[in-house]
Amino acid sequence: MHTRFLVLGNLLGRSRLGRTAVSLAYGYPHGDARVIVDGLAYHSPVMLSAGFDYNARIISILPSLGFGGVEVGSVTARASAGNKSPQLVRLPRSKSILVNKGLKNDGVDAIIPRILAARIPDDFVIGVSVARTNDSAAADENEGIADYCYSLKALSKAGAGRYYTLNISCPNSFTGELFSTPPALDRLLTVVDVLALARPLYVKLPISLPWEDLRLLVDVIRAHRVAGVIVGNLHKDHALLAEGERSHGRQGGISGAPCRETSTELIKKIRATVAFTIIGCGGVFSPEHAREKLRAGADLIQLITGMIYEGPGLIADIARDYANSPLV
Ligand SMILES: Cc1cc2nc3c(=O)[nH]c(=O)nc-3n(C[C@H](O)[C@H](O)[C@H](O)COP(=O)(O)O)c2cc1C
Repeated sequence: MHTRFLVLGNLLGRSRLGRTAVSLAYGYPHGDARVIVDGLAYHSPVMLSAGFDYNARIISILPSLGFGGVEVGSVTARASAGNKSPQLVRLPRSKSILVNKGLKNDGVDAIIPRILAARIPDDFVIGVSVARTNDSAAADENEGIADYCYSLKALSKAGAGRYYTLNISCPNSFTGELFSTPPALDRLLTVVDVLALARPLYVKLPISLPWEDLRLLVDVIRAHRVAGVIVGNLHKDHALLAEGERSHGRQGGISGAPCRETSTELIKKIRATVAFTIIGCGGVFSPEHAREKLRAGADLIQLITGMIYEGPGLIADIARDYANSPLV
């Protein structure tokens, strides 16, 4: 289904007629849900989160759905076929998806021209999520840092993407979450600082760590040239799934409803300690869920699973609700 959506989205995004038709059916054409974050103007506070348009195939259709932006990727330095199938399993009773894609993508060099060719209005933001290549050539920490930097430099040189995210929290990769410990993250960010990127840089956090451990990561991030965090990635706790869908022994992180409360609580805790940008992500299925995250301290919202279960009308519903009463 994901593949079919991408093929259709790509087709519709290619023509003005396709974009107009989708906009009439689902769009949110008014400008009053606009938000500005780190100097970037978003048509609405809702973005498509990383992992849906991982190969930058459907960017051009997304403004017609009311999105304020998309996070393309995660992209990696080398192309990767990802993990063995099944890479995605729908868990409808839990309103979740079991994700075991393992960073499947065409590689940063193939994806850059697609980002540059996207037809988008000025108030639609393309961010690019950068991860470490998931293949058997992945070696030690230094090689991992070089891998991240290769993608960041390629994107920056091409002028592709208006912000970048470091995905340090992909739960299903060859070398594991190597950069999710404070010392390793510090070493990665120290090297990335030297790149002096001209675009905002965010770090996407794991949500399955205890708060005491996550707080140490936030402390590291604050000491570097990082504009904020995305809270957060997939949950690892399969016990949160409905009975019968607990995926005994199955690999993968879980999205959607099981992430909602954890991510919102973490946003609150992080907001109490920092003033930088927080992008709230995890289990947004309604305008009220978006408001909960904004009230907790998020500046923007990202989602995937809510759109899959509730349909693409959800985006305009959130934008309309926000426009009617932006003071959350
Ligand atoms: C199919 C799928 C693929 C994903 N791939 C990525 C990815 O490549 N990089 C990333 O940072 N997050 C990835 N994620 C996590 C999402 O970006 C998001 O953090 C998570 O799904 C929680 O949001 P949701 O409940 O709105 O889906 C993926 C999620 C899904 C459902």
